[in-house]
Amino acid sequence: MQHLTRTLPASWYRSEPLYQLERRAVLLKSWYLLGPLTRFKPGSSVQYEFGQVPITVRKSSSSPDLSSEGITVVSDQDGTSLRHHVTPTGLVFSTISASAPTFHNFFPDLEPLLARVDFTRLPHRRSIKYEGNFNWKTMVDGYQECLHCQYTHPSFSVLYPPTFYAVENHVNFSQHIADPAKREDGLFLYFFPLETLNVYGGGMSSFRVCPTEKPGVTRMEFDYYHLEDADSAKFEEYFKFVRQVALEDFELCEKAQENLEKGVYNEGILNPVKENGVAFYQQQILERVTAQYEMEKSAMTATENQSPDASMAVGAKSVQAAA
Ligand SMILES: [Fe+2]
Repeated sequence: MQHLTRTLPASWYRSEPLYQLERRAVLLKSWYLLGPLTRFKPGSSVQYEFGQVPITVRKSSSSPDLSSEGITVVSDQDGTSLRHHVTPTGLVFSTISASAPTFHNFFPDLEPLLARVDFTRLPHRRSIKYEGNFNWKTMVDGYQECLHCQYTHPSFSVLYPPTFYAVENHVNFSQHIADPAKREDGLFLYFFPLETLNVYGGGMSSFRVCPTEKPGVTRMEFDYYHLEDADSAKFEEYFKFVRQVALEDFELCEKAQENLEKGVYNEGILNPVKENGVAFYQQQILERVTAQYEMEKSAMTATENQSPDASMAVGAKSVQAAA
């Protein structure tokens, strides 16, 4: 009989100790997409926050436009430099702590796939952010499948009919293919754990699903890139189209989270074809959180006369619930 992957339990979407475990197991050990080189203007800085680690990206005023030279990333907490990497076709990635592996260890097969798209073709036009009442994984769950697309996104489904929709999982990222004939329009990338890059509708957008300290609250951050100026009718048309899709997902996530909070749903089985993207990323979370928990538990039991603190005990319950 075929092995069917189960979803993460609902408790993982509302537990604070579990979020702290996720933070140590996943967030601090990951690489993050900051944007294409067009996001960083000489002499300016851009701020980000991942897993309660605020960072500042600066580009020196003497560095030429669209150059990877002169980019620095520092932690706002202690001013230390953080490792960053610029891909050959212009995407800037960063770590948030020294515990992340090297870029090529984290994304061993990403650069060949990115090679056919020049990500510096479209200038940055607008950025927006706002909070939503859902866990960060509730939004990633929705992004990683398109079963909901036809009924949730009627305008999107006209341009990208869900007759063909496939998710290909790689090491720490997934590629979504809406139409195999148009690989540069309808290019959707998910970067583990919490970011996306979307080339569709005539422009490019990326969004970050930033967890706050409250498991039921997430900060959504969007960057939009387009050939046309932000005050042009063409840009407005693109913006209106992609915002509509984002708002439809937002509404769906707030409703899904309500059910997760109420205990209406605990866990289920994932469709091995239509939800392979969800299974892929959830299994990464499950494995890393479980390994972190085991590591911390052995470190704690190695210290005599030390009783496990309350937060670890709750974390343990959640991990056991998933096993
Ligand atoms: Fe969606």
